[in-house]
Amino acid sequence: ADIDKVADVSLGFQSIAGSKLDAVAIPAGYVARILAPWGTPLNSDADAWKNDGTNSATDQDNAVGMHHDGMRFFSLNDSSTEGLLCINHEYIDQNALHPTGASFDDAGLRSSVEEVRKEINAHGVTVVHVELVAGVWQVVDNAAQNRRFTAATEMDIAGPLKGHESLVTAYAPNGDVARGTLNNCGNGDTPWGTYLTCEENWPGYFTNSDTLTTADARIGISTRGTRYSWEDVAGDESEVDSEFARYDTTATGDTAADDYRNEANGHGYIVEIDPYDELTKAVKRTALGRFRHEGCAYGKLTAGKPIIFYSGHDSRFEYIYKFVSTAMWDAADANATDRLAVGAKYMDEGTLYVAKFSEGGVGEWLPLTLTGATTDGGTLADTFATQAEIILNTAGAADLVGATPMDRPEWTAVDPITGVVYLTLTNNTRRTEEEGTNPANPRLNNSFGHIIRWEESDDQTSFEWDIFVFGSDDEGDAETNLSGLDELNQFASPDGLAFDSRGILWVQTDNGADEVEEYTNDQMLAVIPSQLRDDNGDMEVINADNQTELRRFFVGPNGCEVTGLSFTPDHKHCFLNIQHPENWPYSLDATEETPAGVSVRPRASTVVISRVDGGDIGV
Ligand code: FEO
Ligand code: CA
Ligand code: CA
Ligand code: CA
Repeated sequence: ADIDKVADVSLGFQSIAGSKLDAVAIPAGYVARILAPWGTPLNSDADAWKNDGTNSATDQDNAVGMHHDGMRFFSLNDSSTEGLLCINHEYIDQNALHPTGASFDDAGLRSSVEEVRKEINAHGVTVVHVELVAGVWQVVDNAAQNRRFTAATEMDIAGPLKGHESLVTAYAPNGDVARGTLNNCGNGDTPWGTYLTCEENWPGYFTNSDTLTTADARIGISTRGTRYSWEDVAGDESEVDSEFARYDTTATGDTAADDYRNEANGHGYIVEIDPYDELTKAVKRTALGRFRHEGCAYGKLTAGKPIIFYSGHDSRFEYIYKFVSTAMWDAADANATDRLAVGAKYMDEGTLYVAKFSEGGVGEWLPLTLTGATTDGGTLADTFATQAEIILNTAGAADLVGATPMDRPEWTAVDPITGVVYLTLTNNTRRTEEEGTNPANPRLNNSFGHIIRWEESDDQTSFEWDIFVFGSDDEGDAETNLSGLDELNQFASPDGLAFDSRGILWVQTDNGADEVEEYTNDQMLAVIPSQLRDDNGDMEVINADNQTELRRFFVGPNGCEVTGLSFTPDHKHCFLNIQHPENWPYSLDATEETPAGVSVRPRASTVVISRVDGGDIGV
């Protein structure tokens, strides 16, 4: 309906060159400062961050987590100089976290309970009060709303799986709570002022040597151990039992309460957090599906219509989902004080769909409900007894209805001007001749990735789609460089994706293909899609004629991924995250290069970008 609208700002910077330094690069006239790096104390229970890895597990429980990822700035009193920053912490680097990496005993068991607790506490989400003081953003130490959610924090279960037998554990006899959130990658937010954190590669934290369920096997829980071996902690069984052994979900008893068979069933969800009310718990909104959620973005709001939440499943050949609320949007809910009650209203009841992309730029949303049609002529009720069972094995249900396997769906972003939805497909080097291509994923060995977009039909059951831009190096041939990119905007592996409220789309990258990596570290580019129009005024994709409108704004330090994005309401400050840098940051000036021959303990960090003249970012 708003498809003809055009953003009324224009990009006011020139594309910057690539960079391969232990420093960030930004356009002239901008500054970039470090804020809330890993280990920054949130309160007096944490010692200051130590450069030798000796901070304790308790310090880490009261300090900013590791490996920053998705993020959102929540303004306090509508201010652009004070707010609550919610930051995801995707995973950890044991070498940076501990003095000399992870410790194992001769039997191969994790030999230090303290170390494992510190690792668990470095995961999750940070809520931190930040404030602009004399031109510099700072953490407000001991602020009331500062808090951590970790891989051990108790959270509520809501939606179809609340109280379900598959959520019953010795810890949760009523199946209505679960412990911890894991691998929090992309994020979202809601119109009512809450944060959404997305559980991505959580299957890698669980193992099951003998009793994998169909759902466990489909999602990829291993039979041979976990990423950090938390399930194998040496010591007195009674001490380490439920805290660590729960990551091994092999059934060893007669009932669920005897073992940890259901432990992983509490993971794989969109988790809602109210950053403003520190007395509330996080809530896992199971109605939105259980898979490796990368991000979560809501569609353009219309009073009296449902709210749509989009979420990609980041794995090769996985799918794109949307959840449509049963409740119709009431704008008064944006100002509610019981925000989690509003979350329950719009996120616990609704219909989950998966996307099918067809030839000719058309597509449809296939319902994942008991009556949803399967490709063999039956319905999902032939395989699943309840909606809760469908949710538990969301990807398995999506297989049966004939969803389109994509090249690793990452973040979703909705254009506030046109309502068009954009989603990054980061790469898929396993799309071989044998697997074949499909219209929405047309390149074999897709090492560069692409960004797809769609516009919902009025009844929201179908959509029209096209591919907005193809990643490529500038020397790629006509079959690779389909968008005509040049040195100044070549990119690969689009991942983080966000619109600001002015209609500027920001694209962040994670691990470029070699051809691009030789030229530049990971980066962030900007473009205003609503302004790319052909002579008839129809929306255009990026092509050789308009490609200079896609501009490189930022380049990260060596080894990093650029992710997470949020703006202050006045657009004078932009927050982004640097995850897994190699040898950075050297000082509070993010652009200061680590001197040759100097090694620093790497720290993921938020970077705040502002303009020297105090103007608006990007325009
Ligand atoms: Fe954690 Fe899909 O990136
Ligand atoms: Ca990501
Ligand atoms: Ca990624
Ligand atoms: Ca990452």
